[in-house]
Amino acid sequence: MSYKRHLVTSALPYINGVKHLGNLVGSMLPADVYARFLRQKGEEVIYICATDDHGTPAEIAAHKAGLSVKEFCDQSHETQKEIYEGFALKFDHFGRTSSQQNAALTQHFCAKLKEEGFIEEKSDQQLYSIDDERYLPDRYVEGTCPHCGFEGARGDECEGCGKQMEPTELLNPRSSISGSTNIEVRETRHLYIKLSELDGRVRDWLDTRHDFSSLARAIGYKWLDEGLHDRCITRDLKWGVSVDQPGYEGKVFYVWFDAPIGYIGATQEWAEKTGGDWESFWKKPEEVYYTQFMAKDNVSFHTINFPATQLGSGETWKTVDNIKAFNWLTYYGGKFSTSRNHGIFTDKALELLPADYWRYYLMARAPESDDSSFTWADMQGVINKDLADVLGNYVNRLLKFTAKKFDGKVPEAGTWSAAEDKFLTETSALLADYNKHLANCEFRKAMSALRALWVAGNQYLAEQEPWSVFKEDEARAATILRTAFNFLSVIARLSEVVIPFTTEKLQALIHEQDKQGTWVTDMEAELKREAEDRTFEAPSDVLIQKIEDEQIAEFEGTFGSEAA
Ligand code: 2FM
Ligand code: ZN
Repeated sequence: MSYKRHLVTSALPYINGVKHLGNLVGSMLPADVYARFLRQKGEEVIYICATDDHGTPAEIAAHKAGLSVKEFCDQSHETQKEIYEGFALKFDHFGRTSSQQNAALTQHFCAKLKEEGFIEEKSDQQLYSIDDERYLPDRYVEGTCPHCGFEGARGDECEGCGKQMEPTELLNPRSSISGSTNIEVRETRHLYIKLSELDGRVRDWLDTRHDFSSLARAIGYKWLDEGLHDRCITRDLKWGVSVDQPGYEGKVFYVWFDAPIGYIGATQEWAEKTGGDWESFWKKPEEVYYTQFMAKDNVSFHTINFPATQLGSGETWKTVDNIKAFNWLTYYGGKFSTSRNHGIFTDKALELLPADYWRYYLMARAPESDDSSFTWADMQGVINKDLADVLGNYVNRLLKFTAKKFDGKVPEAGTWSAAEDKFLTETSALLADYNKHLANCEFRKAMSALRALWVAGNQYLAEQEPWSVFKEDEARAATILRTAFNFLSVIARLSEVVIPFTTEKLQALIHEQDKQGTWVTDMEAELKREAEDRTFEAPSDVLIQKIEDEQIAEFEGTFGSEAA
C-alpha cells in the first residue's frame, strides 16, 4: 500500500535535563535516520518532536536549579534544541508540550472523552506532606516498592521492577522535596479515563497493527491481557495544562495525558510556522503512514493510553501504524541513568568526538532485538574499521590518485568490462538490501548493508588496481576510476542519512553539493554516468580521523570502564 505522506515522531525528551546516549539511540536518532531516508527518496514527510515540559521531573529540576519552572523549561528547551542540532537531528519542528496549542488540544480530548462517557470523576486518596504544605504526586514522593522491595521507588513507577503505581501504594513514603515522612492521606477529586471500558476498542485496534515491531506488540498485549485499569489523568499541581472544569482550580492534567497529545500540538506549531496543513497528517488516517520511535519503557503509553484517548474521543484521528521499539543501550552492561549521572550525556558526547561517529556507531549497535552494551573499545573498533579504514580509505585513495593522474577531473571512460558488470550486480543487490532495511526500520541491518557498499567500493579498487593498470593502459585505468568516482557519488548520497556532516564534506570535495538530500534509484545509470567535465578536489587532510588509544584511555578514565 502506498501512502500520500509520512508522519514520523519520536518519544518526547523530558525537559528535566540533558539526555544521555541511551535516550538518543532509542528515539530521536533512528527517527531522524528514517525521516531523512524518506525525504531523500522524495516522500512527503514531517518529523515532529518536542520537549516534554510538564510533570514533576520538571518542577523538581527547576527547584534544584533555583529557577521558576517556566524559566527552567525555557532554558532547558533551548539547551536541548542546540544539542540536537549538534547531532544533525533534522526535525521539521521541535516544539514544546507547554505550548498553548497543546493545552487547547488536551482540554479538547478530555471534553470529548467526557461526552463519550469515558471520563469519571472520583474522590481519590493522595499523599499530602504536612511539612511541605502540598500534595505529593508522582515523583514528589519516594519509598519502598510494594512489588519488589526496591527502596528508591518513586510514586509513579518503580525503577527496580518497572511497575507503575499510585503513590499511596508505596511503603514508607517520604517527600522527595524535604525528605519529610510527616505525610498523611487526604481526599481530593480527580478525573479518571475509563480504560477498563476502552480495552475492547484498544485490543481491536492493536489487532490491526501488523507493522508494529514484535517488542511493541508483545508489550501492548501484555497490558491488555493483565486487564486495563482506569487511570487518573489529573494531578494536584500548579505546573501543567490546567483542567478547565469548575472545582479543578489548582489542578492540572497528568503529564502522561498531555505528552502524547503533544505530537499533535507540535504539528500545529509546525503548521503555524510553515503554513503547512496539520490536519493532513492527523485527520486523514488512510492517507498517512505514521511511524513512532521509542524505548520500551514508553511503549505501553502508545499501545494503550494514547490510542485509548484517540479512539475514545469518538473523532477521527491518525493512530500510529508502526511503533519501532528499542531495548536499552547499556554502559558496560550497566544502566545509563540520568538520576545517577552514569554513562555519557549528549552534550558531553559532542565535545569528545564528531557527531557522525556517534550517529554511525549508535545505529550500527542499535539495541533492536536485545540490549546493546556500549564500551569505548567497541566504539573505537567500529569507527576506525568502518568509517576510517573502509570509507575514509576509499575516498582518500581514489581522490588523491585521480587528482594526480587526471588533473582534478573525472576521467572519460574507456570500455566497460566484466569487472564493472560484477561490481554493478553486487552493488545493486546491496542497494536493494539497504533500501529494504531502512524502509523496515532495521537499523543494524541497514548499517551492515551500507558498510558492505563501502567495502564493495574498496574491493573494486583493490582488485582492479588502477594505479598499476595506469602504467600500461591509461584508458582502462580511466574506466576504473570513473566507475569508482561515480560510485563515490552514490555512497555519499546513501550515507547522508547517517553521517550527514561527513557526506557534506565529501560532496564539497567532489563538487556535488547539489546532490545533497537526494537518493539513488538506478545503480546502472549511476555507475555508467559520463564524466560530464566534472571536477573535484583531493582532500587536504584525512576525511575520518581514527580514534587513538590514548583518547580511549582518557575517556575510560573520565567515564569509567565498568558497569555502575
Ligand atoms: O519517557 C520519556 O522521556 C517521556 N518524556 C516520553 C513522553 S513522549 C511520549 F512517548 F508520549
Ligand atoms: Zn519495584
